[in-house]
Amino acid sequence: RIGPPSPRPVWHLTPERNWMNDPNGLVHVDGVFHAFFQYNPGGAGWGNMSWGHAVSEDLLTWRELDVAIPFTDNEQVYSGSAVIDHGNTSGLGDGVTDPVVAIYTAATTDRLQAQALAVSRDRGMTWERYAGNPVLDRGSREFRDPKVFRYSGGDGPARWIMVAVEAVAHEVLIYSSENLRDWTWESKFDVPMPLDELWECPDLISLPLDGEERWVMLLSTHSHDPANTQGSRMRWFLGDFDGHRFVPAPGEQWRLLDLGRDFYAGVTFADAPDGRRLMLGWMSNWQYAREVPTEPFRGAMSLPRELSLRRADARAGSGGIDLVQTPVVPEGLEWRPVDVAAHEPAEVEVGVTGVLSVEADLAGGRTLALELCSGDEVLATVTLDGASRELVFDRPAPGGEGVHETFPSVRRMPLGGDGRLASVQIFLDAHLVEIFACDGAAVMSHQAFVGADGWRVRVAGDASAQVMVGATDTE
Ligand code: FRU
Repeated sequence: RIGPPSPRPVWHLTPERNWMNDPNGLVHVDGVFHAFFQYNPGGAGWGNMSWGHAVSEDLLTWRELDVAIPFTDNEQVYSGSAVIDHGNTSGLGDGVTDPVVAIYTAATTDRLQAQALAVSRDRGMTWERYAGNPVLDRGSREFRDPKVFRYSGGDGPARWIMVAVEAVAHEVLIYSSENLRDWTWESKFDVPMPLDELWECPDLISLPLDGEERWVMLLSTHSHDPANTQGSRMRWFLGDFDGHRFVPAPGEQWRLLDLGRDFYAGVTFADAPDGRRLMLGWMSNWQYAREVPTEPFRGAMSLPRELSLRRADARAGSGGIDLVQTPVVPEGLEWRPVDVAAHEPAEVEVGVTGVLSVEADLAGGRTLALELCSGDEVLATVTLDGASRELVFDRPAPGGEGVHETFPSVRRMPLGGDGRLASVQIFLDAHLVEIFACDGAAVMSHQAFVGADGWRVRVAGDASAQVMVGATDTE
């Protein structure tokens, strides 16, 4: 199928052509962010899984390079991570420059999944498979998505830690290693969640809170059951890690990380500057990812999001701890106000790429609705509801027929704050819509397939509001 090219996101990583899913091997090397990704070099459907490759200095503008780790006749290259092997612990370097080592899942024709290495001796640019692969094989068909990081806490010497999943058995497995080649079993984390979903793409990160180091487990979960109306989602879990075992914080449970339909497989960069925890996710959902009507590419990454922990706003009634996501935004945004008068609808042409910043006074249960349109068609409506103190996102079937039966959806998230003022940011970049509220503690990501003329936004409601449109002049 060859149709007209789709508008291409400007602030987001998309492949020039073909299929993309999970981010892989996110690593920062010598001032350059490398993003690898699940990629089909041969088409716009899932298959021939290889690691595609792109680089960026600002995390927003990307340059795609040649495929880094191609599939072979008997091996597909599934998701995994990459680290700079400071000090050449693996012995895979050339003795001059520290190697960069990728740890990926080799999905082989005998239907087994085992962990394997590839090495780069030119700071992440080109890659070679390790001759001793696989390095970790438990004879499993569902053992995948290794995320490796350096752990230097505790009493002993620093070690490499791997988290990976048994996807069907619902376990996050933890291993350790001194050299990235020999791995020792440490423990498993298997606190159940209410739904029977595959577990995929774990990550384990430390984040400071009140001067202490806390740990957050990230996990993506997916259900193939058509009766499960969620499909793919990402979750997080607060706890502690002692170098061997992840211990849940008291009373803690799995919580959703993104309340929208299109955020999955999010993982963080290794070696990011200043210890920042920067995450990219894949903005799609396995329920309909194969049906996404973009051409000649299919698949996109989210905006980069910096993760942090924050004590929840006591006034919002939650005494707990929030995971906060702060998007990396382009520099030099130029802002123009939208003329919004309460009770009178306003309309603004945003173009293919722009951000809406909305401050609304919802006192007395007032509402503000933003209709996100492509021409005259409403692709989604974002309602700030002063009565429920919620943001409601409603995405009907586009074009009347739709992408997939599970595509139309309504999702809600809290607006937080003092029960009156709401502050929301909506990033619109071609078909990618990311909404941040509660200063980053409430986030939802969705696809909505806008046409070549870009976004037109209609603002209506009885709340008084200030709406600004931010754009760069890159278009
Ligand atoms: C998650 C996932 C991973 C796997 C990869 C294959 O989206 O299913 O578990 O490694 O995609 O492309």
